[in-house]
Amino acid sequence: LGKRMLVKKAIFPVAGLGTRFLPATKAQPKEMLPVVDKPLIQYAVEEAYAAGIRQMIFVNGRNKRAIPDHFDTAYELEAELEAAGKKELLDLVHSIKPDDMECIYIRQPKALGLGHAVLCAQCVVVNEPFAVLLADDLMVGEPPILRQMVEQFEEWHASILAVQEVPAEHTKRYGIVAGTAVNDRMMDLTHIVEKPAPENAPSRLGVAGRYILTPGVFREIAQQPRGVGGEIQLTDGIASLLRREKVFAYRYEGRRFDCGSKEGFLEANVELALAHPELGAEFRRFLQKLAL
Ligand code: UTP
Repeated sequence: LGKRMLVKKAIFPVAGLGTRFLPATKAQPKEMLPVVDKPLIQYAVEEAYAAGIRQMIFVNGRNKRAIPDHFDTAYELEAELEAAGKKELLDLVHSIKPDDMECIYIRQPKALGLGHAVLCAQCVVVNEPFAVLLADDLMVGEPPILRQMVEQFEEWHASILAVQEVPAEHTKRYGIVAGTAVNDRMMDLTHIVEKPAPENAPSRLGVAGRYILTPGVFREIAQQPRGVGGEIQLTDGIASLLRREKVFAYRYEGRRFDCGSKEGFLEANVELALAHPELGAEFRRFLQKLAL
């Protein structure tokens, strides 16, 4: 396996407008919304780190400050915690950005779509395979979902999209794929369409916010006209990539919470609070009392 074929970089597009989550997203990106005690973006960065990735590329838009600040050193806070002898909290704050992790920030000047956001990171990625993580999809799995995908990439050496079965009435919310099964989890793609109506959907397998892509996709995105919603769609770039290269869909093992929607966000908070080592037991009693 050549050095160039390792996935070393991850792109986090965080420049969307987050209109479904107004007013919370008026002055901050939705990726900073906390689920229990951690912002969504930190879950995604930890997932990439667990997959062996050390270079994190954030594509920022307006309201860009909160995310770099979150991964930056907070001198005042650290000095206060140190002076107060709060070692555990200090370690917690330090652990947000391990020393061997590098953060790179790129500006997407206008929210022209997810495909455009990914294209904005081309100058940093250039010619190697890379991951894309949409932090508003909170993924829970063991091993973590992106780790599973990197393992598949090392075997197949081709682009891989995370997919899951979605209800027929929800095809309009996803990129929907079709293809030929190569084993019980991997599918060799022949089709991908963005947000089809149920009657036009080629299957019920919807793309979740995790991708491993080969750099050939940049050229394809750059040639796309505006697609659904007037945006430059990543899905359209992938659709033209699969005419040139193999692209696989991987049915991941785990769960996804759509935290870009209020319902999914609330579900994630309840489930992760119940699973939280310190809060779980008490919170369960609270919910039981509520349900009476
Ligand atoms: P969404 O489709 O969820 O759009 O973007 P959005 O604008 O963030 O949210 P709504 O639909 O208005 O509520 C999917 C991902 O792509 C990023 C978003 O930040 C999100 O992670 N994105 C989208 C960009 O970075 N730039 C864009 O121009 C569009």
